[in-house]
Amino acid sequence: MKKILLSAAVVMVCGSLAAGGFAETRTGRSGEELFKEHCSACHPEGGNIISTSKTLRKADREAHGIMNQTDIVEKMRHPGKGMTSWSASTLPDADALEIADYILKTFK
Ligand code: HEC
Repeated sequence: MKKILLSAAVVMVCGSLAAGGFAETRTGRSGEELFKEHCSACHPEGGNIISTSKTLRKADREAHGIMNQTDIVEKMRHPGKGMTSWSASTLPDADALEIADYILKTFK
């Protein structure tokens, strides 16, 4: 009986550690979902409703020096006028990189 209780406790502790650790590193949502939640209000279909020349499409992006994932994450951390800013605590790097990857793959 003692043995059964002990192994049940071990399983419970391991289960909660695994769940807790996972939630800390990333939300587990796709770049597309995160983009829709955080970015698409101002950037519908990769456009830009505020600064109409600053779309997320390749030609516009690259004309403004935004070439890769790192550049896009940098923009979220330090945006220009009119764009919301996200720190690493409001939008973790793992999620920011997922969004950047989605943008690069989707808006050509
Ligand atoms: C409140 C509106 C708003 C939201 C929300 C917003 N943006 Fe922006 N975004 C802008 C504006 C305005 C600019 C132009 C100013 C600038 O260059 O920072 C811009 C510019 C950009 C650019 C540069 C495009 C270019 O051609 O130079 C990128 C990349 C970008 N946003 C990515 C994002 C991402 C990723 C998100 C979501 C995490 C996001 N934006 C959310 C308004 C917004």
